[in-house]
Amino acid sequence: MENRQTIITTINDQRYEIEGEKAFMSLGTFLRQEVNLTGTKIVCAEGDCGACTVLLASEIGDDGKLIFKSVNSCILPLYLIDGAQVITVEGIRISDTELHPVQQSMVDCQGAQCGYCTPGFICAMAGMAEKYKNENKEITEKKAKNFLTGNLCRCTGYKPILEAAINLDLSKIQSLKDRYHNPAWLLEMKKIKSMPVNMKFSQQKIKRNIFLPVSVEQAVKAKAEDADLRLIGGSTDIGVVVNKGRLNTPKTMALYHIDELRIISHDQQHIRVGATATLSEFEDYIEGFIPEMKKILHIFASPQIKNQATLVGNVVNGSPIADTIPYLMVSDSRVLLQSVNGVREVLMSEFYLGYKNLNMATNEIVVSVKIPRLQNQEHLRLYKVSMRKDLDISAVTFAGIIELDQKNKIKKAHFCLGGVAATVIRLKDIELKMIGADFSKLTFEDIAKTLPQYISPLSDLRASKEYRMKVAQNFFLKFHNEISKGVVS
Ligand SMILES: Cc1cc2nc3c(=O)[nH]c(=O)nc-3n(C[C@H](O)[C@H](O)[C@H](O)COP(=O)(O)OP(=O)(O)OC[C@H]3O[C@@H](n4cnc5c(N)ncnc54)[C@H](O)[C@@H]3O)c2cc1C
Ligand code: FES
Ligand code: FES
Repeated sequence: MENRQTIITTINDQRYEIEGEKAFMSLGTFLRQEVNLTGTKIVCAEGDCGACTVLLASEIGDDGKLIFKSVNSCILPLYLIDGAQVITVEGIRISDTELHPVQQSMVDCQGAQCGYCTPGFICAMAGMAEKYKNENKEITEKKAKNFLTGNLCRCTGYKPILEAAINLDLSKIQSLKDRYHNPAWLLEMKKIKSMPVNMKFSQQKIKRNIFLPVSVEQAVKAKAEDADLRLIGGSTDIGVVVNKGRLNTPKTMALYHIDELRIISHDQQHIRVGATATLSEFEDYIEGFIPEMKKILHIFASPQIKNQATLVGNVVNGSPIADTIPYLMVSDSRVLLQSVNGVREVLMSEFYLGYKNLNMATNEIVVSVKIPRLQNQEHLRLYKVSMRKDLDISAVTFAGIIELDQKNKIKKAHFCLGGVAATVIRLKDIELKMIGADFSKLTFEDIAKTLPQYISPLSDLRASKEYRMKVAQNFFLKFHNEISKGVVS
């Protein structure tokens, strides 16, 4: 099959072809330095402040129109927007003389002081308006607050900004998918996604490669031929370390043109999440299935991050404080690894061999995660403690599943803790000890008391070892208290 040598994208209504090393540039830098769209600001360059927010559509919805979602352009390399359309704050404005209702609302509510954060807030709000308009839903204060979690205002003008969001009249807003509907571009997008990109070039004597395969076969063949090819999901972990200069990724492969890997599906036994399915898509999908996980995803990062980040990226990044791993581990989920030799399934509890040391060969890629569905008689609880509720990384995490027999004795117990060791850990010794025990406060107090025999957390910037131990002990008491009182999650 013929390969493409350029990244093709549309920004507002302008089509661009990007060649060579420029494709490694972040979208934010490209907007400001290459195409003079300086409305987009870059402040933290870590995905934390939202100043660089733009809208990105890489998928076409069931109605044949683009699905625009907010993302952070500072950590998004250009090679991840091949065949996608970007709308910047300049593209949100209706015309040179007419503001978009979101912009007008910010003016009316006096939502800008120094104004530096304003373009990011405008794009985040436009993303919110796009979603709720298309879903025919109202904007509430709660929804607005949630949508603006990823935007910081250093002048602390939050009250008027929130008012600007709540005051929006969706009936007066034309959706971006209609405003920017361009059948010729949609047709080209489909064509773009059917032809692999394979850009190879040298930069300062370093061999560089961007590979965007269109089938799993192409992907595993490429990984077998070059073990250095680095997989990139949404780049929300990688993009931050690259920006900090702590990582160079000269050879990259991203799988987002492989349609089958974007799919989330379920049957009676399992939920399957493809490698490129985003956390926002996962969060929407599990509504009604796994309320506990939905609760955790609600406080996971910001909409901008979740619109780009993948579940698989969180799993492979393997952080001891990753928020999805405790649930996946406690539920006996499996990672599906594929190579030219076929597919291998690995239990989550056997996937982490040490800090950032995975049970994954250099010729393997993760194609999906398989999650067993919770049975009616099983009780699940997931807890996260962080310094701040929203947009903060965990200090300690907990996952517990318990099943009781008719006599209120423990029939099944699965427990995980994160933030207390080099990886998220399954507490198998504690689980074994609990089988047959009474489901009583005493049993859980005993576990909490003896916990120091099983874990030895460390102190770091986020929390001291004593604090982590206390939180972990309290999680067990909270777990018993909630389940025994039938607290609904
Ligand atoms: C501001 C901010 C807030 C955050 N908040 C949270 C939070 O609250 N909780 C939390 O847990 N995390 C958080 N994160 C971390 C990050 O967003 C998640 O870990 C995310 O799920 C990573 O997914 P990704 O697709 O962006 O991964 P990437 O950055 O693309 O990749 C991560 C790792 O996975 C590997 N990889 C990706 N896909 C594959 C594949 N198919 N096969 C093999 N390897 C693969 C990559 O090589 C890399 O090692 C935050 C990050 C930022 C920037
Ligand atoms: S510049 Fe702060 S999130 Fe991008
Ligand atoms: S208005 Fe100054 S940073 Fe928000």
